[in-house]
Parts: sequence; C-alpha cells; structure tokens
Amino acid sequence: MPNPNPPKPTPLADQPFKEFAQACTERVNQELDRLLPASAQLPRRLHEAMRYATFNGGKRVRPLLVYATGLALSGPLERLDRPACAVELIHSYSLVHDDLPAMDDDDLRRGKPTCHRAFDEATAILVGDALQSLAFELLSSDPQLPAERQLAMVRLLARASGSHGMAGGQALDIGAVGHAMSLPELETMHIHKTGALIRASVRLGALSAGASETRQQALDRYAKAVGLAFQVQDDILDVTAETEVLGKTRGKDQAANKPTYTSLLGLEGAREKAAELVEESLDALECFGSEADHLRHLARYVVERQS
Ligand code: IPE
Ligand code: IPE
Ligand code: MG
Ligand code: MG
Ligand code: MG
Repeated sequence: MPNPNPPKPTPLADQPFKEFAQACTERVNQELDRLLPASAQLPRRLHEAMRYATFNGGKRVRPLLVYATGLALSGPLERLDRPACAVELIHSYSLVHDDLPAMDDDDLRRGKPTCHRAFDEATAILVGDALQSLAFELLSSDPQLPAERQLAMVRLLARASGSHGMAGGQALDIGAVGHAMSLPELETMHIHKTGALIRASVRLGALSAGASETRQQALDRYAKAVGLAFQVQDDILDVTAETEVLGKTRGKDQAANKPTYTSLLGLEGAREKAAELVEESLDALECFGSEADHLRHLARYVVERQS
C-alpha cells in the first residue's frame, strides 16, 4: 500500500549546500533545455551550436547565486527560473565570444573544443548574438513576473552585459594586452568583465523575491566582493590548475601577456586578495541569519574551486 502521507521533501533553503547546488543545477538545465530552440529546428546548425555552447559542463555559478539570493529572501523558486536562465545565457554567450580568435583565441572550453572550433567562427559569433537575444526574450516574457518587474530585470541585465558592464570590461581586457596596468586599473577591468554579471545575478534574485533597502545594499556589497574574488581565482587557476581539470588551456594569460592578479601581486598576493574578498562578502551578510548560508557557502566555493 502506498503511504497516504509521504514525507514532504526538505525545502531547498534548508538543504545542505551540495544538495541545494545539485537541485538548482538540474533545475536550470531543465529550464534551459525547454527554452532553447530544438537542434532540429531551422537554422539547424545555429541551434545545435547554441545548445553546444550552453550544455557543455559549466559550473552554473550565476544561476546558483540567483537561486541562493532568492531563497535567502524566501522568494518562490519558480520566479527565479527565468532570471537564472537569462544570466547563464548571457554568460555562455560571453564565453563563446571571449574564445574567438579576435579575442583570447582559445581552443578548449569546459573540457571540449570551443564553439568556433567545433563549428566555425561565423556560427560562433551568431551563437553569441542569439543567446544574448534569447536571454532578454525570456526575461520579458516570464509568466511568473508582472510587467514592471520584467522591465526592471531587462534593464538591469542589459546594463550589466553592455559597455558599462561585461562588454566594457572585455574591451578594457583586449586594450590591456602587452601594457602595464596599475592595481586599480586591473580591479576596474575585473569588476566589469566578470563582476558585473555576478552582481547582476544577485540583484536579479533580490528583484524577483523583493527585498528591503538595507538587505539589497548588503547583498550588493556581498556580490561586489564575490564578483571580484571570482576573477582573482580565475587568474590564479590559469597559473596553478591542470588543463584537464580546468577544462581550458592553462597558462593562456601569461602566454598572451595579459595583466592579471597573479602577474601584479604574485601567486601568494593574489591568494591573500581572494581570501580578503571572501571575508568582506561574509561580513556584508551579517544582517542575515542561516537563510543566507548558501550564499556564504558560494562565496567560499568561489575561491576554493579548482576549475
Ligand atoms: C569563466 O567563468 C569566465 C569568467 C568570467 C572568469 P566560469 O568559471 O563561471 O565558467 P563556467 O561557466 O563554469 O564554464
Ligand atoms: C573572461 O575572462 C570574462 C568574460 C567576460 C567571458 P577570461 O578570458 O579570463 O575567462 P576564461 O579564463 O577564458 O574563462
Ligand atoms: Mg578573456
Ligand atoms: Mg578567455
Ligand atoms: Mg581567465
């Protein structure tokens, strides 16, 4: 006889981090699979390449930040799905373009040939274009959110992706190749190219759940520190990680003569900076109780990760 009162599953907010991360990753992957055009749909090559660039083993840190923020504010999970998908689509697009020959000229991404290698350059450019457009289409047609909140999210993500955010940071990065950079200049570049989308992830989570001014400010302070820490660790891993674990070719920054936290501060200096930033992000969450534990865990994960 089936149990008429089966035990209720533990709410995600109360689950240990590993289960939370697994459940959210599955959730965002399922949503992305449902929302991306099928490979069989015309134009087939573009749709196949969009899926290739999205489902190739990313860590899904930005969606996890959206979900962890929403849960810290007791927001309903369904309202976090579209923002989580949208920010991951923008991030995936940024990686496809980042790897192009005109940018970092990389052959390996997430352990597989980069999009322009697996397909071709023109297709990779179009994949970026189309993933970006899809992100905004999804946000502006979210059945879970009222129109004014959709608009606020579109505005926020557009600002974080454009010349005042990620694309602007990428422009600074390309312009910096072979030039000396001061620490404040490097920080500005990292805050834009990587920090902006991480900050947007937390803001999207807060927008979808609704948060007091104090809590929004605390979350933003957290996200700024985590966003910078993320790129500091990315710079460190370019020096320390094995290509097979990293899923991208190790040593590319030095080979391309890029200013990084390790080139300016040395490995130990970069590690200290990353640790300081984690402390700062944890400090920022002081006004939260255990409901923000997944955010705390994510901050530590960002600098402890090995890939
Ligand atoms: C890599 O981002 C590029 C940066 C912004 C530093 P991630 O390390 O989040 O890449 P995936 O999505 O897990 O592959
Ligand atoms: C990329 O920074 C940041 C983006 C906006 C994509 P990197 O060029 O250091 O990222 P990886 O190391 O190739 O993933
Ligand atoms: Mg780059
Ligand atoms: Mg790169
Ligand atoms: Mg890098």
